[in-house]
Amino acid sequence: MRKIIIDTDPGQDDALALMTAFGARDQLCVLGVTCVAGNVPLELTSVNALKICELSGFFDVPVFKGSPAPLKRKLITAEHVHGKTGLDGTELSVERKEIEITSAIDFIIECSERYKDDKITICALGPLTNIAKVLRENPRVTESIEEIVLMGGGFFEGGNITPAAEFNIYVDPEAAKIVLESGVKITMLPLDVTHKTLVQRDFLEKLRKSGKNSAIEAAKLLDFFERYDMEKYGSKGGPLHDPNVIVYLLNPAIYSGKLVNVEIEVNSELTRGMTVVDWWSVTNRKPNTYYINDVKYDEFFEIVLNKVLNLET
Ligand code: BDR
Ligand code: CA
Repeated sequence: MRKIIIDTDPGQDDALALMTAFGARDQLCVLGVTCVAGNVPLELTSVNALKICELSGFFDVPVFKGSPAPLKRKLITAEHVHGKTGLDGTELSVERKEIEITSAIDFIIECSERYKDDKITICALGPLTNIAKVLRENPRVTESIEEIVLMGGGFFEGGNITPAAEFNIYVDPEAAKIVLESGVKITMLPLDVTHKTLVQRDFLEKLRKSGKNSAIEAAKLLDFFERYDMEKYGSKGGPLHDPNVIVYLLNPAIYSGKLVNVEIEVNSELTRGMTVVDWWSVTNRKPNTYYINDVKYDEFFEIVLNKVLNLET
């Protein structure tokens, strides 16, 4: 069982990533869900995380609040994509759970001490503010982190919040820089791959036809989510960005990429948050990231479907 912490800003695609991880309970042990401000403010992302835990029947997974704002900049949110609540498309309730008093940052540091020997993996699905704070405040955690697998960046595909930048990196580029320079093993799932995992009708139909509450709610979330990309870019469906992080852990063999150097632009206003990928090794900069650029589409959706349908709720 791989021990993971999911750092997230739900978001409909974050919700599907959480559900996929919970459905993979024989392979992944979710130690906790740590929340960050991103798609919507922190007050909403943390309540949304609770809602998804409950929807998935995972009442005991602790949920923590982290950073309400990026390290140095004003928070930028994405209600234009995710709706006002971040989980528009459903009206999920949250009854039994409370957010932990410990901060997300302290929780990650505590876990890194507790699981020093078997190590933890951090799945980062939002801006990297919490993770950067952990690394900055306690550099020794790098010894206990097996890998950081993150959704963020884009190179061949360009950006989705500016022409040059992907949303998660754009929101907190200084944090992304700290993470990429930490020396921890990094695997990056950028837009170059997530734009290949567009939700299609038959996937939504299978979720609905299962008759299971969690799967039906997942389909409602995705129905709302995909309208943005379909209207704006004319794409065939919404890109299931964040579940790629979880599916990568479950079956890395369906992905391909390259170990390369990635640097983050933090100075230019025009290209703020751009992930500058040295794909062709044209510099002498040291490789620091396993940069994924392809995935087997059918296998990806089969895994997400199987895991979501494996939930008991
Ligand atoms: C990323 O930004 C958010 O809107 C999504 O949840 C995903 O993590 C895609 O750019
Ligand atoms: Ca996200």
